[in-house]
Amino acid sequence: MPHLIFSVPIEIPYPYCEGDYTFLECFFSESHNALMLVRYKDIYFFLTIQKKDRKFFVKIDKKTRVVPVGIAKKALEICKNFYKDFLLHDNLSKNTLKQQNESPYLISADTFYTYIPDQKTCILEIGFGSGRKILNDASNHKDTFFFGIETHTPSIEQVLRQITLKKLKNVYIIKGDARLIIQSLPYNTLFDKIIVHFPIPWDKQHRWVINEHFITHAQQIIKDSGYLHLRTDDFLYLTESLKSMMYLAQGYWEVFKNKPEDTISKYETRWIKQHKDIYDIFWYPQGAREDNEYKNYNFNFLPHEAKKLYERFSCEHFMPIKKMTDSVLLSAKALYRSKNGSLVIALCMGNKYYPQNTYLIIIHDEEFRAFYCPALLATSYQAHCMLKSLEENI
Ligand SMILES: C[S@@+](CC[C@H](N)C(=O)[O-])C[C@H]1O[C@@H](n2cnc3c(N)ncnc32)[C@H](O)[C@@H]1O
Repeated sequence: MPHLIFSVPIEIPYPYCEGDYTFLECFFSESHNALMLVRYKDIYFFLTIQKKDRKFFVKIDKKTRVVPVGIAKKALEICKNFYKDFLLHDNLSKNTLKQQNESPYLISADTFYTYIPDQKTCILEIGFGSGRKILNDASNHKDTFFFGIETHTPSIEQVLRQITLKKLKNVYIIKGDARLIIQSLPYNTLFDKIIVHFPIPWDKQHRWVINEHFITHAQQIIKDSGYLHLRTDDFLYLTESLKSMMYLAQGYWEVFKNKPEDTISKYETRWIKQHKDIYDIFWYPQGAREDNEYKNYNFNFLPHEAKKLYERFSCEHFMPIKKMTDSVLLSAKALYRSKNGSLVIALCMGNKYYPQNTYLIIIHDEEFRAFYCPALLATSYQAHCMLKSLEENI
């Protein structure tokens, strides 16, 4: 991870502008860690400052990590030059080409559905990794639209760079957890195919992409003639996924062992060398969709709601909060304050089984303003309502 180490806490005169970057404000926790809010064009992100053994480490915040990472590395570069007399160490390498590729084909999870054309074949690949399949398929089928969701930033940067080099105009990439993103899609967003090839099985089972929530939501976004294709080398993943699908969903299934595939991914190459068996499930839900209008959740705060939250959190000592119902979690894990009294609260919220980490910013100026961007999910909205109804000083 790129980072800088200083001998003193860095004190930039906020707001500080350099080129397209504005260092807006710095927020401090009681344990003297800090979050520096930076804007690059219309992208907002944090740099973190952590104190360890009288040294101050400045890093890119993981929760707001921007793509390509070159944007945040450039912000570190500005800090480094600003405070160069106090710099003890840095590991900043020059941005590689893929780290500075600001691609129009990287789209946000919130606007993803607006890019899906009605009258075209649309394919969604989840966890594309090195991207061999999505890039190959998009090169061979120029009339089809491909959407790829991936959590791993270096894989995303690599694929975006390949999209530019190959001059592809039919592939869009979304960064994030596919399990959350597909839940936030309107039910009339429809794909011809959802591809999940070699999802990670060696993690804990609760982190598997294919789970009960995923299956329920996937069947809402597959066309009547469409299907989901799971390909895996993990027998437990195969059998558990098939069991859950058959228990929860409609349609019919085809299951294969060692069926050849046109594009052999990096993972598959490794398993073939080890003579492992490979399994496929093709699931055709056949129009088991329910009608549902777009879930237009509103995560805004009125000034009096922002003021109430401000009063709730601005007490002298921050006490973490954890609230949970059967399905929803809201946890306030840390509080940061700026010198002019604004707050940042580190939250973990939404679906209890895979909650999202996010920051709530409460600005204290002539009136109170509060904002954050949770995923557009029913469970985020329930957590949002819990947050608004928090009693004071508990
Ligand atoms: C084992 S790799 C397989 C990559 C590729 N499909 C292949 O066949 O080579 C699994 C990929 O899924 C991604 N991944 C894991 N969980 C995910 C999630 N919840 N949403 C999106 N991508 C995810 C990982 O970052 C990783 O790149």
